[in-house]
Amino acid sequence: MKIKFVIHGKEIEVEGESGRTLLDIALIAKINPPYSCLEGNCRTCEAVIEQGETSEDHPGLQVVRTCQAVPKSETLVVNYDKATH
Ligand code: FES
Repeated sequence: MKIKFVIHGKEIEVEGESGRTLLDIALIAKINPPYSCLEGNCRTCEAVIEQGETSEDHPGLQVVRTCQAVPKSETLVVNYDKATH
């Protein structure tokens, strides 16, 4: 799937491997994403899903913890800059 990350004021498009979390995909792409616990507790890794679906989506809430969220659609836009870390 194609994932566009918005981070540090830049847009970076990467090809994501299915089954991996958004954080894994961002780390593999070396875009320097924020994270800490890797267990879904600290919320350091949060990002806003502007387009597409993930395993963590809840109605009316677009913020996901990227260390837990696995992409469920073929295209996503994931904005780290809009999350309040
Ligand atoms: S890294 Fe702590 S919640 Fe994702």
